[in-house]
Amino acid sequence: MAVKQESNPIDAEFYQPADAFFTGHRSLALTYDDITLATLYSEILPRDTQLDVQLAEGLNLNIPVISADMDTVTESRMAIAMALNGGLGLIHYNMPEKQQLSELSRVKNHVHGLIQDPIKVAPEQLIGEVLEMIEKRKFAFGTFPVVDADGRLVGLLSGHVVKPRYSKRKVAEALTPRNQVHAIKQQELGTNPVARADKFFTDHPGIHKLLVVDEEDRLRGLFTMSDVERITQERSAQFKPARDSRFRLLCGAAVSATRNAFGDLDRERILTHVQALAERGVDVVAVSTAHGYSKGVGETVKMLRDALPRLPLIAGNVTSAAGVEYLADCGANAIKVGQGPGSICTTRIVAGVGIPQLTALHVCSRAAEQKGVTIIADGGITKSGDIVKALTLAQAVICGGLFAGCPEAPGQMMEIGGKLYKQYRGMGSVAAMKAGSAARYGHLTDNTQKLAPEGVEALKEVSPSLDLVLTQLIGGIQSGMGYLGAANLAQLRQKARYIRVSPAGMREAAPHDVVEVKTGS
Ligand code: XMP
Repeated sequence: MAVKQESNPIDAEFYQPADAFFTGHRSLALTYDDITLATLYSEILPRDTQLDVQLAEGLNLNIPVISADMDTVTESRMAIAMALNGGLGLIHYNMPEKQQLSELSRVKNHVHGLIQDPIKVAPEQLIGEVLEMIEKRKFAFGTFPVVDADGRLVGLLSGHVVKPRYSKRKVAEALTPRNQVHAIKQQELGTNPVARADKFFTDHPGIHKLLVVDEEDRLRGLFTMSDVERITQERSAQFKPARDSRFRLLCGAAVSATRNAFGDLDRERILTHVQALAERGVDVVAVSTAHGYSKGVGETVKMLRDALPRLPLIAGNVTSAAGVEYLADCGANAIKVGQGPGSICTTRIVAGVGIPQLTALHVCSRAAEQKGVTIIADGGITKSGDIVKALTLAQAVICGGLFAGCPEAPGQMMEIGGKLYKQYRGMGSVAAMKAGSAARYGHLTDNTQKLAPEGVEALKEVSPSLDLVLTQLIGGIQSGMGYLGAANLAQLRQKARYIRVSPAGMREAAPHDVVEVKTGS
């Protein structure tokens, strides 16, 4: 039997744990590409690693990845996709408060597998018109619920009768009537709607569609057997969706320390809005600004903590131990770390401040440990290896640029020179600040002339889907953990050993001296 190698004194001389390493480099601020992690004895296969993390009491993720609260990254569609993959989306605040509430509701009401707004037909329509609609909208299905003008279920138009030979007939003549159609009341779906639908299909051989109605028999949704089967198979996947105790997907929302016309913190407005978010089931609120170690942010966090003692709170951003201590004392559970590392950020150039990300994370992690809070590495992550490095010091990461090209991110695709792109802009860019995020950077929105932008407007190449991007990232994190013999994230933090990389070492790390015919990503 192989015997585990104890740590070797020669290794220990070169590959140092976080405290010794960062203290030894105390006059040099380091970021992801400045270091590499040493491999360690391992009995852990990447696929067996556990990535779940608790960011606060009542806030548990199955993967330590969060999508950024930016207006080109996270609205409901991204938040749904993140939570379905086990992570979390933070809905941005560059929109009216009412809209943020409905974005949140879309996530909290999302029933995996339930088509909430199915394509319907009316009894008086001709079958020929239905055929035209199928052709025009390229539907791959031919069965439709039939509803009257009030949205009440009248029957089901089966694909068997949606044929050219019946074109001249009315839907009403060809439908399967309501009393022969299987439908379930919304309330009967219980806490696990997919399991309920799954049982229905098992109990009713040959039936492939289950309609959902409300108390007044109005159509509220549709399950198809193929969707339910796919989801049931996914259930055995390693990373389960991140859900709350009522089986709803997790969702976070960002707020800023909004000021009123007199420049004072608008306590009432912030509190009223966060209370409304909490009533709709928000799982965490992030007080998200460029400078979190500031009176306005501290007072906002304190006010929210007093009013909503059990609501998990994220606050930031900071890059100092004092900043972590301050926000923790005000009542934050998790602190965002990062000033200027983001791919669209110009804070360090414009304001001359900010700390390269790994040094900032180390400094903040020490204070966080003392205070019993968690930290989240925010910005500057461009590859899975950066996430592994970040997770040696932080409990989770926030990514913007990595997800901005996904179809789940807000915004239209555009074609330039035969390639597809999506817009990605800093929340401190002029366009984003005009759209509302000026407060995040301490500016007033009513004077756009005087805004000092701290971010750029950019484009990202379109990625196929968030699922695919996350699969790649998670695969990378798990490989990193396998190399370090870390079965879970706590072991990754405890085992990590660092060494500086020279510029030549960095070049060596990327493909070199070859003609690349297929990229690794
Ligand atoms: P990545 O590198 O993932 O960074 O694209 C996303 C993070 O960057 C921050 N952010 C900004 N920072 N000016 C800044 O200095 C900006 O305009 C800006 N917009 C976003 C934010 O923390 C985000 O999560």
